[in-house]
Parts: sequence; structure tokens; C-alpha cells
Amino acid sequence: MFDLTGRNALVTGAGQGVGAGIARALAARGAAVAVNDVRPERAQQVVDELQASGARAVVAPFDVTAYDSVRAGVASSVAAIGPIDILVNNAGNGGRDGMVPAQFRGSDPETWHGPVDVNLFGVMNCCHVVLDAMCDNGFGRIVTIASGAGMVGLRIGVSPYAAGKGGAIAFMRHLAVENARKGVTANTLALGLMTGNEGSDVTKALAQQVPVGRLGRPDDIGPFCVYLASNEAAWFTGQTVHVNGGSVTS
Ligand SMILES: NC(=O)c1ccc[n+]([C@@H]2O[C@H](COP(=O)([O-])OP(=O)(O)OC[C@H]3O[C@@H](n4cnc5c(N)ncnc54)[C@H](O)[C@@H]3O)[C@@H](O)[C@H]2O)c1
Repeated sequence: MFDLTGRNALVTGAGQGVGAGIARALAARGAAVAVNDVRPERAQQVVDELQASGARAVVAPFDVTAYDSVRAGVASSVAAIGPIDILVNNAGNGGRDGMVPAQFRGSDPETWHGPVDVNLFGVMNCCHVVLDAMCDNGFGRIVTIASGAGMVGLRIGVSPYAAGKGGAIAFMRHLAVENARKGVTANTLALGLMTGNEGSDVTKALAQQVPVGRLGRPDDIGPFCVYLASNEAAWFTGQTVHVNGGSVTS
């Protein structure tokens, strides 16, 4: 069950954190993994680790916000490991490198574009580049890592980030329905606060309110992606699932 042998995956923003955890989980089930990151040295470290464990892995160093770079980067990955069957859109700015929270009122319009670029257009770029081959092959699994912030209102000053994540959530639903008859599924995981992101006063307070009693870890997310990427998940599409220790229930 959930055997990914013979499948090729691209995980974006996989040089650290959640994305690295997802890359490890997919590789552990037999997938070859293209490890993307805009910081190539991070991606290389993860690739070294995966290769040391016997997995097939390649570095895919590109910026998901630049369509032409995505196209070139995916082409190099395909040349190295074969057509992409599994895409995990994880690159975003909600983590350790993340944003400086600010209330929308009084915010600088210049600060709105970055979060929407990476969290929405980054997802659309990657999906657009891999989709034709998935449809032609009759198999594709697309997972986008979003955030509870894209689903519920928060007072912590992340509205541009939420706009990007919320846009990606809506986009994924349409992607799922448009391509369902082609064997391509598209689902979204709306994460809660993850370990490593508890530094500020705001996130410290939020961390104490998680019903399960701890923040999320990359290995809370990787196995979910393994399921979503599997043959067994063929009838699971168009869904947004909260994965958050009970912080938001639905
Ligand atoms: N950390 C949290 O508390 C939290 C909560 C909810 C959702 N999320 C989402 O989960 C995902 C992963 O979060 P994380 O905590 O592991 O983040 P992280 O900041 O630790 O890691 C993200 C990685 O993505 C890379 N990246 C950033 N922009 C990129 C781009 N344009 N192209 C390619 N790579 C890029 C970074 O270099 C980094 O290695 C993100 O989408 C984030 O928004 C995180």
C-alpha cells in the first residue's frame, strides 16, 4: 500500500522544513525526487541525504515565481529522472524565512506582491508546467501546501500571505475538477503553525493554544503527501484538509 516505486516527484521549497520532510517521505516510499529550492545549497544538502539513503534524487534549483525558470528547471529534472508524476507545491514564505507580520491598515502596498507571487503564482506556474505531461500520461498527483490563514481570519497581520494561500486553495479546486477525467488529482493541505515558527510573541501565544499540545513537525505532513500521491488516492480530489493539531476544525 502507498508504494511510490517508479513515480517521479517534484517538491518545491524542499531545501528545509516541511518540504524537506515531504521529500524524505516520498523518497522513503520509492519515489525519485527532484528537490527544488531557490537556495540551491539547501536543496543539495537534502539531495545528498536522500542519495545516501539509497534514493534517486536531483537538485532542481529554480525560483517558482519565474515561469521561464520553472519551465527550464522542470525540463532539467525530467531529463534526469523522467516525467513528473507527483508535484508538491510547498514553496512559500510562511515559515522560518517568512514574513514580517503587519496589520493591513497602514501596510506598504509594495509588501503585498511577494507573498501573493510565491504562494499563488508559484503554485500556478509549477502546475501549468507539469500538467500537460500528467494528462498525457493519465496519471498525476498535485498537492499544495497552504495554511489555515487562507481559510480563516486571524489578527496576527498576515493578510497578503492569506490572500496568496486563499487564492491557491481556490485555484486547486478548479484544477481538480478540470483535470479529474485525466487521472490527475489536486488537493490542498492547510497547515497550522509548525515547529521552528514559534519565535515571535504572536506565534508563542498561538503555540500554546494548539489542542494537541504541540506545533506541527515535517513528519506530520510527509505521510499525508505519500497517501495523496499514491494510486490508492485516485478518488480523493478537490479537497482542502486542515492539518493542524486541532487548531482549526472543520
Ligand atoms: N511554518 C509554519 O508555521 C507554516 C504554517 C502554515 C503553512 N506553512 C506553509 O508550509 C510551507 C513550508 O513551510 P516551512 O515552514 O517549511 O518554510 P521554510 O521557510 O522553513 O522553508 C521554505 C523553503 O522554500 C524556499 N523558497 C522560498 N521561496 C521560494 C521560491 N520562490 N522558489 C523556490 N523555493 C523557495 C526557501 O528557500 C526555503 O528553503 C510553506 O508554503 C508555508 O507557507 C508553514
